[in-house]
Amino acid sequence: MSDLSNKHIVLGLSGGIACYKAAELCRALVKAGASVQVVMTEAAAQFITPVTLQALSNRAVYVSQWDAREPNNMAHINLSREADAILVAPASADFMAKLLHGRADDLLSLMCLARPIDSVPLILAPAMNREMWLHPATQRNMAQLKADGAHVLDVGQGEQACGETGDGRMLEPEEILQDLVAFFQTKVLAGQHVLVTAGPTYEAMDPVRGITNLSSGKMGFSIARAAREAGAEVTLVAGPVHLPTPRGVQRVDVRSALDMQAAVAAHVDAASVFVATAAVADWRVAEVAGQKIKKEGSGQLPQLSFVENPDILAGVAQSARAKSGALYCVGFAAESHDLLQHATTKRERKGVPLLVGNIGPATFGLDDNALLLVDAQGAKELPHANKLTLARQLVAEIAKRLKVA
Ligand code: CTP
Repeated sequence: MSDLSNKHIVLGLSGGIACYKAAELCRALVKAGASVQVVMTEAAAQFITPVTLQALSNRAVYVSQWDAREPNNMAHINLSREADAILVAPASADFMAKLLHGRADDLLSLMCLARPIDSVPLILAPAMNREMWLHPATQRNMAQLKADGAHVLDVGQGEQACGETGDGRMLEPEEILQDLVAFFQTKVLAGQHVLVTAGPTYEAMDPVRGITNLSSGKMGFSIARAAREAGAEVTLVAGPVHLPTPRGVQRVDVRSALDMQAAVAAHVDAASVFVATAAVADWRVAEVAGQKIKKEGSGQLPQLSFVENPDILAGVAQSARAKSGALYCVGFAAESHDLLQHATTKRERKGVPLLVGNIGPATFGLDDNALLLVDAQGAKELPHANKLTLARQLVAEIAKRLKVA
């Protein structure tokens, strides 16, 4: 199942240079499984042709309310009734001002006004010059549009087509896609604050070498994204990985197990759920050499001794807040065999209500996984799927358990 399969999106373009990004967005929506109907204002058609968007959406584009193709000549009614959401990207300053007043002198604004307000959400991706964005009129209009039920996305920051730098760029197509996908997820974790650890740790031997493992961080990043989509505030403590930060997630980068422990300690008091997916190194080198350990000349192998790293999850699970139920702890177990048995004993050993087992070598670095959820009631399998799908299922399972607790 793609993220937007079974969704019909009316993609509206108002006039602005960000229209060039709407082509990519249209393609991304289609790739994510949505059917897309494009509606453009005449100003938008000055920036990008309807032909381009027709080819990308595989549907004829609507520009005029006088379009005679509709048998009843009511494109504004027909198009808005079919939509699961109307997404206006770019939403220009002028278009938002128009919406605010309920004006309807072109097809796009007419359709927005005529939409069934309770069942067809209106999502706006603003795009404009930074002065226009900061202008009190725009800010006032946005606040009122939100109060009227529109969902206004953030704007990007950076260099603008006009040559100025600041807030007001339209989000990138991939960011808008992520926000739209999140919009459709049920908010089962609204009001929760989720702290997630992810990725490997890196334990230095000397300034250029260290010990790490093959964890890619993908499962933890997917859980952070799924928790955010479900309405939680999310803090992600990430070991050394090169993955993009999920939208709306606060990320703290760390390297070693001790760094990870400190970052968790700094954020755990604000959390109501702690999910430890990180593959934390069990040992670190007792004495890190200040200079590179040289092979040449020494004639002997380096003598390394190790000390055990703190168990971050077990430590958090022993805290007063975890014991009182104010903090719900979820552990992971990366095993190579006998998953159920190891996950069951690990759950008890770590003192957590929920332990999620997976076969490490079968999943490290890959996009797919399978999970085994073990709690006091028994075990439940989440069968093989991509990590984001599994993360959403796990988030739903956590939410169920929070309600019961
Ligand atoms: N964990 C942790 N701190 C550690 C080691 C592990 O927080 N120093 C957490 C992991 O994030 C995971 C769980 O504990 O949620 C289990 O990790 P795993 O590596 O599977 O287990 P270990 O405790 O290392 O046990 P073993 O090596 O015997 O399998």
